[in-house]
Amino acid sequence: RFSNALKSVARNGEIKNYIQNSQELYPLFMRAAKRFVSGETRLDAINKAKELIAKDYLISLEYIGENTTNADECHAAKEEFISLIHQLGANGIKSTISFDLSHIGMSVDRELALKNLKEMAQAAELYHLNLMISMEESEKTDRILDIYKEVASTYKNVGITLQVHLKRSLDDLNELLKYPGKIRIVKGAYQEPADLKIGRSEELNNRYLEFIRMGVEAEHPISIATHDEKLLEKVFEQGYLKHSNVELEMLDGVRSDLIKNAKNEGYKARVYVTYGTEWYLYLAHRIAEYPPNIYTAVSDIIAF
Ligand code: FDA
Repeated sequence: RFSNALKSVARNGEIKNYIQNSQELYPLFMRAAKRFVSGETRLDAINKAKELIAKDYLISLEYIGENTTNADECHAAKEEFISLIHQLGANGIKSTISFDLSHIGMSVDRELALKNLKEMAQAAELYHLNLMISMEESEKTDRILDIYKEVASTYKNVGITLQVHLKRSLDDLNELLKYPGKIRIVKGAYQEPADLKIGRSEELNNRYLEFIRMGVEAEHPISIATHDEKLLEKVFEQGYLKHSNVELEMLDGVRSDLIKNAKNEGYKARVYVTYGTEWYLYLAHRIAEYPPNIYTAVSDIIAF
């Protein structure tokens, strides 16, 4: 309930504008967001990416945004992604570009999202860069998978995220393994109706391992995207990360010790870096998925 309330507050335009326009509150919240977000501009993200690449990490970059209901704003978001792709290409940075389909048109209409996705995939192909579609609330799953499947056979550089916590995801995985794109396996960040999901539990972790096993057995490119230390112990034990098409991916600012260890062991370790003026929303997501982050946020705010 806390998570839902927090996300509703974060998505409330009036509250968001109030905080972002307040000379007192803005710098305080920004200080808390800085742990998770590289900054507001593309340059902030590129600088952060360069810093991490110099330490031998792989990178994903996201320009933060979701649920854009205005076609002009979807166009502007798509243009930002295209500029990001060209700038990465020009700098020789081999980053994956991550995004929500609802940021580039899906909340307006399917065709707009499809058109923008194809344009981004074509631009990314020029530089051999991959795109990765994030997975949103279960109410959107069918629409996201439908758009992904329409582009996936033509654009092999487009991948998709799958949430282990949704009961439907086993069927979805079997289907997605027929397409070439990388599958990023996550537990799932959204609150969902109890009958649709499996909560955080050992059962969920075993299911996560089963999804990895299926991906590895199919020799499919997969990203293991989790910060769960216990789950990762099993992943290491099973030797999954030794497969050439398997990588570990973690959000920048979350359990950096774990990803560093994996990288130092010689495994493929990808850090997910974000940027954009919607950092407030991203901060709320991180606190909602792991409420103790509220204490970290408060201590970041009061630490001078
Ligand atoms: P779990 O939530 O069980 O947490 C296990 C432990 O990890 C916690 O006890 C804590 O120690 C640590 N931890 C987890 N989250 C933390 C946080 N925010 N801050 C500090 N510590 C934390 N989800 C989604 O629905 N759609 C998507 O597209 C994506 N995309 C995505 C990409 C990448 C690269 C990652 C790593 C994650 C996502 N997610 C996502 C989020 C994912 O679904 C999930 O909510 C988080 O990864 C948290 O779940 P864990 O697997 O980490 O385990």
